[in-house]
Formats: sequence, structure tokens, C-alpha cells
Amino acid sequence: MPTSSCRKSKMSQPPEFFRIAHLPPYPLGGIAYAVRDARLAGRDIVDLSQVNPDLGPPPRAIDALVQAALQPHNHRYSSSQGIARLRQAVASWYQSHYDVELDPDTEVVATMGTKEGLSHLLLAAAAPGENVLVPTPSYPIHTSAVFIAGAGFTGVPLFESFTAAEAAGYLLQEDSDDFFDRLTLAYNRAWPRPRLLICSFPHNPTAAVVDQGFFTRLVHWAREHEVWLVHDFAYADLVYDNYRAPSLLAVPGAKECAVECYSLSKGFSMPGWRIGFCLGNPRLLSALKKVKSYLDFGIFQPMQIAATKLLEDTSGANELLAEHRDTYRARRDVLVEGLRELGWTVHTPAAGVFVWAGLPAAVASLGSLAFSERLLAEASVAVCPGIGFAIDADGYVRFALVENERRLRTALTRMAEVC
Ligand SMILES: Cc1ncc(COP(=O)(O)O)c(C=O)c1O
Repeated sequence: MPTSSCRKSKMSQPPEFFRIAHLPPYPLGGIAYAVRDARLAGRDIVDLSQVNPDLGPPPRAIDALVQAALQPHNHRYSSSQGIARLRQAVASWYQSHYDVELDPDTEVVATMGTKEGLSHLLLAAAAPGENVLVPTPSYPIHTSAVFIAGAGFTGVPLFESFTAAEAAGYLLQEDSDDFFDRLTLAYNRAWPRPRLLICSFPHNPTAAVVDQGFFTRLVHWAREHEVWLVHDFAYADLVYDNYRAPSLLAVPGAKECAVECYSLSKGFSMPGWRIGFCLGNPRLLSALKKVKSYLDFGIFQPMQIAATKLLEDTSGANELLAEHRDTYRARRDVLVEGLRELGWTVHTPAAGVFVWAGLPAAVASLGSLAFSERLLAEASVAVCPGIGFAIDADGYVRFALVENERRLRTALTRMAEVC
């Protein structure tokens, strides 16, 4: 029998919880709390910190949701892999938009956004102690999903430096030899040898983009090294000027080694709905389905029905996406131009819902976190510090384009007064 003092010391020193022991606090959480506190204190904050789309959901999706919600049978547990008609709708979407053929039964799983799909996929596919390759900087879930699965990650810098990224126009192509050299080096140095790579283009936070040739070479590399590819395609639909984001699955043979996560959150401005998809390799997807079959009963069925109707009306959906692109492109231009007038050096992004900007010399020594805190405190403008995405991104901040043009101008005026 343990003595009472034994019991006491055990209580005061609980053991670490294995799956969260190595998880740092959510890097983008601090700024969200600071914004909340400032607003509770009555301050008017222009919040450009989180990529939380503000354009509102498509009205016809809401109508379909309401109609479906009126049916009592739609309130029962749904299917964890998604209802058949929704899986068929996204398969047809991929056929018409990317010329990718998908079997709705074995090559499509509906997920609660890309975040959930990617995390549970990692839980299913990555073994504790394993190494996962992740290009850096990275969206936090790409590394934290790896930690939650008990694995570790090996970072592969997307570009040699941010100066090199700017010189390359934040574009990776088939002949981006230096990226593939770094990737091969990271693979060769890691032990155990990585079996998985997570990537995401258009890229958050840098808005770096790729061409189809880059994906062709990546698939070739993955097959040669027997590495699974997981591609987060959350910003697929938000592309500007002449750029079109390629699907990884459009590369011949990609389905043998890859899955892609697509989402309605960003392009369709439905982040709160939590509707996404994991598409591609049947073996990876059956691992994901197995985990999900234990953990969830699927997305609320009226939402699945509404999402189905949205995707089935291809021309309506395309029109909506084009409107959203126009809105974000106009915001992008206001912000980029305004920042340049304030002396910032900014690349005009070809995709995404954000602008990645290097701190001007006058404030660079602060670092991204202190700068963001100062901007919030003195200008009531919230941005996301680069350090949340990678140690070497501390000279950068990310501005999300989730407030309207007038508010962006307000932010720029306030910034001009402060910095
Ligand atoms: C790269 C990336 N992936 C995934 C997500 C989350 O998407 P979802 O709402 O589909 O989970 C985000 C959100 O900011 C993101 O930037």
C-alpha cells in the first residue's frame, strides 16, 4: 500500500502525457488571445492575424443546409468517411478541375477540414520514433500532427534563404535543383529513413507556389525513395493573375504514393463548417478510414448535403470562387501597395489569403514577436509573427487578407503613425 506522502508526491508531479509532451503551445494561439483581450477591453482591432475567411458562406449552401436540417433523419449519426453523394461530388469536381479520376469509394474520404484529415492520417500512418519530412517554414499543424502521432520531423528549408526566395519569386519549379538537393540531404541524414513527407502549395505562410513540373519531380523523387506524400491543398482555389495551382494528384502515378487534402474552408469561405477531403492513395485512405471509424460519426449530415449541392453546381461554384478571388486580389493590391509606400519590401503573392512581408530595417531588430505585440498595442493592428512558423522566419510577419479594403487602409494609416 502506498503511504499517504507517496500518494501526495505522485499527485503533485503528474507524469507527462506522452502525446502532448513535446508539443509547444499552439504558436498562433497567443496572438488570438491578445486580440480577444484587446477587443474585450473595447479597442477596435484590425485583425489580420489568422487566415479566417470573412466573406461569408454561399447563400445557396445555407439554404440547402436549412432544408436538410428540417429533416429529422439528417440528425442521426452520419458516415465517418462521408456520404456517398458528397464523395461522388468531389470526385467529379477533381475530374472537371484537375483532370484527376478518383474512385469515390476507395479514393475519397470526407474530413472535418484538412486539419482533422491530415492529423488523423498521420496518427494512422506515422509510427512513434519515425521521421517525417516537412518543408519549412511550415503551417503549425504539419509539424504538430507529426508530434501528436509520436513521430519526429526533419525540416527541409523551402528556399536557401528568404533572399533566395525573393529572387526566385517564391516559385518552385522542376529545375529548383537546390530544393531537391536539400530534400535528398535531409533524407540521407535522417535515421530511421523518412517514409512520409508533408507539403502544401500554395504555401502558408510564404505564399510560395509550384508549377506542375515541380510536382512531377517530387512524385518521381518520392517513388524512388519509397516515401509517401501528403499534400495539403487548402488554398487550391485562391490564385491570382495568371497563376493556377496544380493538383499533386494530376501527376501520372501520384496516386501510388500520395494523398491530397482539399478543403471548402478557404476558397468557399466556409471555415466554420469543417468540410474537407482526403483524396488519392487507397491504402493511406483505408488507414485514415480505420482511425476515423473509431473516432467520429462523420460531419453533421445537413452540412454534407449542402456541400454536395454546392459542388454539384459546378458553374455556380466557379462563379463564386471567381468572386472571392477578385475580392482577395483587390485586398492584396491595397495591402502590398500600402506596405511598399511605408518602406516595406513585399513580394506580390500569386496565391493564398495573406501577404508575407519582411520587417523594415527600422524595426527588424525587434524580431517578429515583439514587433507584432507592439503593433497590436500601439496601432491596434494584429498580424502573425513569422517565428510561429520557423525559427529563421523571425524577420517576417504574415498579414491575412481577412478584413475589407477600407479596414486594410485603416491598418496602413495606423501603421504609418507607429512605425
Ligand atoms: C496550410 C493550411 N492548411 C490547413 C488549414 C486549415 O484548413 P481546414 O479549415 O480545411 O482545416 C489552414 C488554415 O489556415 C492552412 O493555412
